[in-house]
Amino acid sequence: MARRPMMAANWKMNKLIEEARDYVEQLLPRIEGARGVDVAIFAPFTCLPEVVRRTQDAPVVAGAQNFYHEDSGAFTGEVSAPMLRDAGAVTVIVGHSERREIFGETDETVAHKAARAVSAGLLPVVCVGETKEERDAGSMWDKVSGQVRAVFEQLDAGQIGGEALVFAYEPIWAIGTGETATPEDAQDAIGRIRALLGELGGEGFAGEVRILYGGSIKPGNVDDIMAQEDVDGGLVGGASLEAESFAELVNAAAKHG
Ligand code: PGA
Repeated sequence: MARRPMMAANWKMNKLIEEARDYVEQLLPRIEGARGVDVAIFAPFTCLPEVVRRTQDAPVVAGAQNFYHEDSGAFTGEVSAPMLRDAGAVTVIVGHSERREIFGETDETVAHKAARAVSAGLLPVVCVGETKEERDAGSMWDKVSGQVRAVFEQLDAGQIGGEALVFAYEPIWAIGTGETATPEDAQDAIGRIRALLGELGGEGFAGEVRILYGGSIKPGNVDDIMAQEDVDGGLVGGASLEAESFAELVNAAAKHG
């Protein structure tokens, strides 16, 4: 089954509104030829409306980096799925390792968020991945499969298609470190995630779910990563902060569409 590639910029806690505007202005002309790839910008909440406005007529979607799974109420400091929709977001990162490691998000909260995003009509990009210690101890798959299973348990897979969510395999030791998983390691983990989704939700479902790789993707390694059979795209931090290098990644992904 042909899955449409996706290249996603995760700006993390970077950029003021004016910088976001300049970035989109620089990005759009550089990716004009990139058809057949979904492009997403995951912006901080404060820049989100600006990114939405600036990408309105472009083949680029705006997303948020987090939300809370209740719709409203006494949750000081949180933002809900309907609020993201209201601001024009169509997608949201869920369970990024920085949310899990720094802000204490558990498999259970991540799973609730993924399910709520789907039911609210937002495309969740659900992040999973192991630490260096877990990889060295041989428990990478225990960790990653547990994260995937937890999310799956909250989803009504019978009611949704595999295109309703995206996974991102992001080994924590490769995030922001310059150390990338080899293309073979990325394929191995992502192939196993797809096989597990097949067991849980059936082959048709698993064949539709897009699974991205994330962790120090840059113009120099994107082609080898995108060439892997089960890798459907990238979630990019550092190399997405400059429009020029992110455009290179988008154009590279388009070749694999
Ligand atoms: P990186 O971040 O590309 O800077 O490694 C990826 C991510 O955290 O999504």
